[in-house]
Amino acid sequence: MPALSLAAIYLAVTVVAAGSANHPSLQSVTLPPEAFSALIPQKILATANTFNSPPSYPQYTDRVAGTWQWFTPDTWTTGFFPSTLYALHTRSQLCQRDAGKLKETDWLALGRMWSAAEVPSETHTGVGHDVGFLSFPFMDELNVEPKNSSAITAVNDFAKELAARFSPIVGCTRSWDAPDPTDFQVIIDNMMNLQVLFASAELTGNDTLRQIAISHARKTTINHLRPDGSSFHVVDYNSTTGKVFDQRTSQGYADNSTWSRGQAW
Ligand SMILES: *[C@@H]1O[C@H](CO)[C@@H](O)[C@H](O)[C@H]1NC(C)=O
Ligand SMILES: *[C@@H]1O[C@H](CO)[C@@H](O)[C@H](O)[C@H]1NC(C)=O
Ligand SMILES: *[C@@H]1O[C@H](CO)[C@@H](O)[C@H](O)[C@H]1NC(C)=O
Ligand SMILES: *[C@@H]1O[C@H](CO)[C@@H](O)[C@H](O)[C@H]1NC(C)=O
Repeated sequence: MPALSLAAIYLAVTVVAAGSANHPSLQSVTLPPEAFSALIPQKILATANTFNSPPSYPQYTDRVAGTWQWFTPDTWTTGFFPSTLYALHTRSQLCQRDAGKLKETDWLALGRMWSAAEVPSETHTGVGHDVGFLSFPFMDELNVEPKNSSAITAVNDFAKELAARFSPIVGCTRSWDAPDPTDFQVIIDNMMNLQVLFASAELTGNDTLRQIAISHARKTTINHLRPDGSSFHVVDYNSTTGKVFDQRTSQGYADNSTWSRGQAW
C-alpha cells in the first residue's frame, strides 16, 4: 500500500460510517463502490491480527514492498489504527451492503485490544498537542460504552495535557515546542486535536476546556486561513506579545502554497 493510505482508509471509513447516522445530507451523496470494497476490512483485519510484542503501531509503508513501518505507542499517529477498528465496528452495524470480513469480525474487541497499549501515554507522553489524536479511540469507546472508566480517564487526562499548552496571551494551544520558548508555533493540524477538549468538557462539566478549544479555533480562522480559503501550515506567534510574526510552511512546497494534508484536516 502506498504511504498515507491508512489515513485515507481511516477517513473513508469514518465518513461512511458516520454519514447516514449524523449527517442526513450525506444520504443523497453517491459514494464510489471502492468505499465498500471487501478489501478494506480484509486488509485492516490482516494488520489487526499482527499485534507485536512489545506493542507497536503502523503508520506508513516502505515504498517498494508496501511493508508497514511500526512505531512505539507514544507516536502521534498511534490512535489512528485503533480508531479505524472502532470505525469498522460502527460500519459493520450500519452498512447493509457488505459481507465477508466486515460482518464476521469482532471489530470492537480488536479496537479495545489495540487501544489498551496507549494507556501509559495518558500520563507520560512526548507527543505534545497530538494528545488529541491519541485520544481518538477512547472517544470512540465512549460512543459505544459511555461508562467505560478507563476511556473516561484517558479522555480527561489527554484533554488536561492539551489545556496545559494553552496561552491566554496567544489564545491558542502550542503545537510544536521551539528552542526559543517565545516562538509559539501553531500548526493547522492542531485543529484536529480540539475535539478531546469538547469531549472532556462534556464529561467533567469544566467549561474552561471548551473555551480553550473555541479560542484556538477562532484564532486559527483569523491567522491560518487566507482570504481564498487556503491555509498556512505554521503560524508563529510571539508568546510574550501574542502577535503573529510568521506565516509559513514546514512540510509543504512554499510558504505561500497550501500544504494539502493540512488543508484536508
Ligand atoms: C474500556 O476501554 C478501553 C480503552 O478504550 C479498552 O481497552 C477496554 O477493553 C474497555 N473495557 C471494557 C470493559 O470494555
Ligand atoms: C478546568 O480545566 C482547566 C484546564 O485544564 C484547569 O486549569 C482547571 O483547574 C479546571 N477546573 C476545575 C474546576 O477542575
Ligand atoms: C517576542 O517579543 C519579545 C518582546 O518584544 C522579544 O524579546 C522576543 O525576542 C520575541 N520573540 C521572538 C521569537 O520574536
Ligand atoms: C509565492 O512565493 C514565491 C517566492 O517564494 C514567489 O515567487 C511567488 O510569486 C509567490 N506566489 C504567489 C501566488 O504569491
